Amino acid sequence: MAKYAVATTAEIPPGARKIVKVAGREIGVFNLNGTYYALKNVCPHQGARVCLGKVSGTTLPSRVGQFHYGRSGQILRCPWHGWEYDLTTGRSVFDPGVQVVTYPVTVEDGQVIVSLQ
Ligand code: FES
Repeated sequence: MAKYAVATTAEIPPGARKIVKVAGREIGVFNLNGTYYALKNVCPHQGARVCLGKVSGTTLPSRVGQFHYGRSGQILRCPWHGWEYDLTTGRSVFDPGVQVVTYPVTVEDGQVIVSLQ
């Protein structure tokens, strides 16, 4: 597994993201409360650059007529058609069988490292 230093931790503070190109792939690296996540910048629906989408929360399961908002800052919404993905897993909120490709991320000596297979 090849490792690539894509940023310093200071470049991606909590709540921020950085889009990087690594080995011919475009990847979004997100800092969610101090933990980093890397997702391929391709939406599994129709190929939009999903990592450019808004990071927000989503409506949680609830009774009919009730709306509960939660998971603030954990949901990536595709800019084309609004499909929502869990930033921590890449899985679709609506259909967890659909998933944005993810990559392992580590931090070593202040560097954010993405590993590719
Ligand atoms: S291309 Fe992402 S929701 Fe359609």
